[in-house]
Order: sequence, then structure tokens, then C-alpha cells
Amino acid sequence: MSEALSPELQAKAEAVAALLKKGAETYNGALVFANSLGAEDVVIADLISKACPEIVNFVLDTGRLPEETLTLLAQVRETYPNLQVKVYYPESADVEAYVAENGINAFYESQDLRKGCCFVRKIKPLKRALSGQKAWITGLRREQSVTRDEIQFEEWDEGNNMHKLNPLADWSEKEVWAYIRAENVPYNALHDKHYPSIGCAPCTRSVTLGEDVRSGRWWWENPESKECGLHPATPLKFK
Ligand code: ADX
Ligand code: SF4
Repeated sequence: MSEALSPELQAKAEAVAALLKKGAETYNGALVFANSLGAEDVVIADLISKACPEIVNFVLDTGRLPEETLTLLAQVRETYPNLQVKVYYPESADVEAYVAENGINAFYESQDLRKGCCFVRKIKPLKRALSGQKAWITGLRREQSVTRDEIQFEEWDEGNNMHKLNPLADWSEKEVWAYIRAENVPYNALHDKHYPSIGCAPCTRSVTLGEDVRSGRWWWENPESKECGLHPATPLKFK
């Protein structure tokens, strides 16, 4: 049996719902949610479904996502028939050119090649997903990494020239999981196999006890450089 939400978490969930509703009103239909199907994002999707289903979700399917993530995508659609979920793919010509020039797994060779792959598979599709929008919502939390400790609930996103809402900015990992359990939210099966943070399959691995939640992402790189460009700490190199 799942436990009920604590009064504190109930209040936080209500604050998220209020921020989502205010965003939907302020941006008048030009507000979208970037749903990676990670633990934070399924919480936000659940709250969007309950509080303001007019906010469209989008998933960037890079072509290298784990099978478990795609299984969850199908499950989310079934669980929340009122949610609008759009899926964006990379341009086939971009992927073909990148692979022809660099190889299928070039991201392991250098940070530039890794960022180049993220650019083709995530950033360019993100630009299409955000085109014509006034604001976007993400599941970023301050606690996630050194690159994210100053995240605000509402920010100006210089790179994308629009507002950005991070409704779970102040949530702890424990709170995210308490919400998932209490509200029976469908989540990625990889979380039960010690994958706290999930991206593309070749760039994500499981972590051991005591390791940082994002240590399984691009594990061969420094923590300071572990952003793919969706949420740049430094300006993007690729155009
Ligand atoms: S990443 O930049 O390192 O890949 P992370 O996986 O922590 O990001 O996710 C942070 C937020 O970025 C997610 O909560 C989500 O809003 C957005 N995001 C990341 N990957 C995707 C994706 N594939 N599709 C849609 N949104 C994504
Ligand atoms: Fe490519 Fe890895 Fe970035 Fe996915 S996370 S787009 S596979 S480099």
C-alpha cells in the first residue's frame, strides 16, 4: 500500500500545481513541458494531468534511449489519456552525417564529439520543440549537481530567448520518490536497478551506494562539464 503525502509534500505539490496554472495563464498556450520521463518529470506530468492538461509535454527521442524509457512513454500515454505528449526525433541527415564522419559511438572519444552528438540528437530537436513558444518547463532540481545549485522556479533562458519554469527546483530526491509512491505514478524500471538519473543508453550507467545521483551520466567526464546543452552552464560551442 502506498502512503499518503505528508502535509509538507502536499503543500509543495500544490505550489507546483499553482505555478503550472499561473504559467499556463501567463503564456496563454505557449508553454510546453520537456518530459525526459525521469523521476522528476513523471511527477510533473502527473501534476500537469491533474492541474492543467492543456500544457503539452514533449519528449526528445534521441534514437539512443533505453528500451525502458520507451516502454514508460507508452505507459504514460495509457495512464494519462488527457495528457498531450509529442515526440521529437533528430533529423536523419544530421545523424547520418555525424555517424559517417565520427562513428556510431564517437561520444566516448572526446568532450567535443560528445557535445556534437548531443547537439544533433537533442539540441536541434529541442529548438524545434521550443519554436513559437514563450516558456518551457523542466524537471531540474538544485540538488542534482554542481551545475544546477542556483536554479530558480522561474528564470529567463537567455539561450532559448524565453522563460523557463523549474517547478521542482527545491524538491529533494526523497520528496520526488515519496510523491511517486503516494500517487502511484508510473516510473522508469531502470530506477529500480540503481539508475537514479537516466539519459541515453550508451551514456548512462548504474551507480553504487553513496555515489552522486548524476555520477552514472557521462561518467568519463568531469562533474563540471556534465551538461548536454539542454541546460547550458556555459554557452554552446556548436551551431
Ligand atoms: S540532461 O541535460 O543531463 O540530459 P537531465 O536528464 O538531468 O538533463 O534532465 C533535466 C531536464 O531536462 C528534464 O527534467 C527535462 O525537463 C529535460 N530533458 C532532458 N532530457 C530530455 C529528453 N530526452 N526529452 C525531453 N526533455 C528532456
Ligand atoms: Fe549522444 Fe550520449 Fe548525448 Fe545521447 S547523451 S545525444 S548518445 S552523446
